[in-house]
Amino acid sequence: MSTADVTAAPDVLAQLAERRAAGLPVRVLGIESSCDETGVALVELVGQGVPRLLADALHSQIEMHQAYGGVVPELASRDHIRRVVPLLREVLARAGVGREAIDLVAYTRGPGLAGALLVGAGAACALGLALGRPVLGVHHLEGHLLSPFLSDDPPEFPFVALLVSGGHTQLMRVDGVGAYELIGETIDDAAGEAFDKTAKMLGLGYPGGPALARLAEQGNDKAFALPRPLMRSDSLDFSFAGLKTAVWTQLLKLPAAASVPAAALAQLHADLAASTQAAIVDVLVYKALAVLKKTGLQRLVVAGGVGANRRLREQLNQQCRRRAVRVHYPELHLCTDNGAMIALAAAMRLQSGQQEASMAYAFDVKPRWPLDAL
Ligand code: KG4
Ligand code: ZN
Repeated sequence: MSTADVTAAPDVLAQLAERRAAGLPVRVLGIESSCDETGVALVELVGQGVPRLLADALHSQIEMHQAYGGVVPELASRDHIRRVVPLLREVLARAGVGREAIDLVAYTRGPGLAGALLVGAGAACALGLALGRPVLGVHHLEGHLLSPFLSDDPPEFPFVALLVSGGHTQLMRVDGVGAYELIGETIDDAAGEAFDKTAKMLGLGYPGGPALARLAEQGNDKAFALPRPLMRSDSLDFSFAGLKTAVWTQLLKLPAAASVPAAALAQLHADLAASTQAAIVDVLVYKALAVLKKTGLQRLVVAGGVGANRRLREQLNQQCRRRAVRVHYPELHLCTDNGAMIALAAAMRLQSGQQEASMAYAFDVKPRWPLDAL
């Protein structure tokens, strides 16, 4: 890129602002590659309206990592490289537009796997440079947090957010885009990790959360008395590591496979899955209600992969109805990682006047990046 291109950059950014001011649609492409899903999506933003999803496409690497029982970072990066351009073509075709329709390119800057993040960042900057469009790095958790804005029932600020993903369990007060106050978080394992690790112990493979939830449907959630760590303490933090040990202890006490009929042992496993899920959900619901009470807010947003869990949704809906609290979830397919939430977060940043889009096409990634540092 020549120096002239760089000095011309503010004009393009000014043009973008002018288009927005004139009420013309602005289209934001989002690229997500922080872990084991490559996601690409296009959203459209008009004025101060809620951004609208035009098209999205996703490739999950689950099958590839399954053989190893978990995500292999190097394989993840290589697969992102293979998928990102075909997914981009798919999104544009579905939206019925050409590349030139993209006004801003957003990518996940962190947190996540360094090599995987670099693929999305590199692809976004290359595309931005080729098209002469600005590029914006987005916080992955901000994407999750804002993802319910793409649902049929979008929330309004301020709200309490319960962010429950594979790597994070956090409760936040959210007053607007970029205004995030961390109120509680896990001091060890995340809720998703607790699901995944229990699933692994029960031989359910990777990713364990959905499999454990499915098995739990057939079990008795009161069969095993499992701890609810930190639940009734004053602390608004979470701890799930002890639960994992308790599940392991119960597993060791189960009768040997040869000594009981297979169906009886399968039922015990289902009971243990149901009891574990109940313990995790009880803690999440209890703490979310405590934060609602502490902040006095009447709105709750649930986001992240564990937000897809049916029992969690049922319990939250029931408890919140009693307290006249509105609960908002992302669409089910937008609970886990996807490009739509990245495009959305960038669009909402643009909308809120937090202009960090750049045309320098130099990028870094932030594998560790606390959300309240934004
Ligand atoms: O948000 P996400 O896709 O990735 C991260 O950013 O971590 O969340 C993935 C996590 C995994 O731990 C997965 O097992 C869990 O979400 N998960 C579920 C369910 N669906 C996904 N956990 C419980 N029940 C589900 N239905
Ligand atoms: Zn995620």
